Amino acid sequence: MSHLMQSYAPPSLSIERGRGAWVWDEQGRRYLDAFGGIAVTALGHSHPDINAVISEQSAKLMHSSNVMRIPAQEQLAERLCAHSGMQRVFFGNSGAEANEAAIKLSRLHAHHTKVAAPIVICFEDGFHGRTLTTLAATGNTAIKKGFAPLDPGFVHLPYGDIDALDAALAQYTAQGESRVVAVMIEAIQGEAGVRLAPEGFLEHLRTRCDQHQALLICDEIQSGIGRTGRWFGYQHSAVLPDVVTIAKALGNGFPIGACLARGAAAAYFTPGSHGSTFGGNPLACAVANTVLDVIERDQLLERNHMLGARMLGRLRERLDPLDLITEVRGRGMMIGVQFAQLPERFNEHCLEHGLLIVKAAHQSVRLLPPYILSDEQADSATERFGDAVIAAIAEVHA
Ligand SMILES: Cc1ncc(COP(=O)(O)O)c(C=O)c1O
Repeated sequence: MSHLMQSYAPPSLSIERGRGAWVWDEQGRRYLDAFGGIAVTALGHSHPDINAVISEQSAKLMHSSNVMRIPAQEQLAERLCAHSGMQRVFFGNSGAEANEAAIKLSRLHAHHTKVAAPIVICFEDGFHGRTLTTLAATGNTAIKKGFAPLDPGFVHLPYGDIDALDAALAQYTAQGESRVVAVMIEAIQGEAGVRLAPEGFLEHLRTRCDQHQALLICDEIQSGIGRTGRWFGYQHSAVLPDVVTIAKALGNGFPIGACLARGAAAAYFTPGSHGSTFGGNPLACAVANTVLDVIERDQLLERNHMLGARMLGRLRERLDPLDLITEVRGRGMMIGVQFAQLPERFNEHCLEHGLLIVKAAHQSVRLLPPYILSDEQADSATERFGDAVIAAIAEVHA
């Protein structure tokens, strides 16, 4: 009997080591990694700069405490603010913690604006984490099963539906007072299968949030830190949120998450109102600063933009003629492939073709390759994916 709690489906693969965009399993088989530990290892595996900073910083100081000054944390916060347009940062250890902080800011916003029964508007198929409150914010009913009672202050609307949004805002407004204190959205929904917000939707949210004195919270945990070819997914629009959450790629595998805010929301946390033992410790911040160094030095935003367009083009060319595929979509290194019906063994077909990918909702899969992919590796990933689709079709028709 396994002594691990059975919260994950029994895994079929154990990865032993990785280098760049490649990983090897225990049998020595090699795979091109378009999975990245679910959008985490953005600089690939065993990156020399990340290896060096972990060894240097851990030899010097891994942990002090947030009751002390942590210069690397101050530096990281300043850089993240410069890239995002935010003003202040709270550091935690994961995406869910970053979103918990954002939701706590929405509660303090309700407190400051004297809203007694606050509502946060979220979206169907959105994913925000597995803690009780981020689960309540999540728009996937299947993963909430058995965890009731969940916080009732979250309402889920169809993603991109302007009419549904306006109707909900009207429903929660009485005598000119709105109960909606925040709208929380992924500018590109990841777990839902890489769904981009429709043109103009974020702009509409921004306008309505301003009219209703509500915070606009962008969950950039999967799409942030350069994955889409800009630092953050919302930067493909003209919109500036009030709160931004990040994690995943920020530490390239070293756990770190952060909640960024501007304006009134940036000042809501006061000494003692929120905290974390590990959050933003010297080692985590040294690693994250190095992740930013590498992205800036190697111009990986531009690279992601270019490579993503190349991969999307090649995938479309190969897959569009196939009835099994209904859409290939994405931005930069965040690509979703929509199947009419996802073959049951599709992941195995990818493994047989030496490719790691990630399943997503509604019969779709994702490719989330590292930013350091060479042109040849990008072409190879699309080739392998296409071959896996052909093999899956052949098996279905056999
Ligand atoms: C958009 C989004 N938000 C939040 C989370 C939760 O992050 P974590 O698993 O680090 O708690 C994820 C994780 O997949 C995510 O994709």
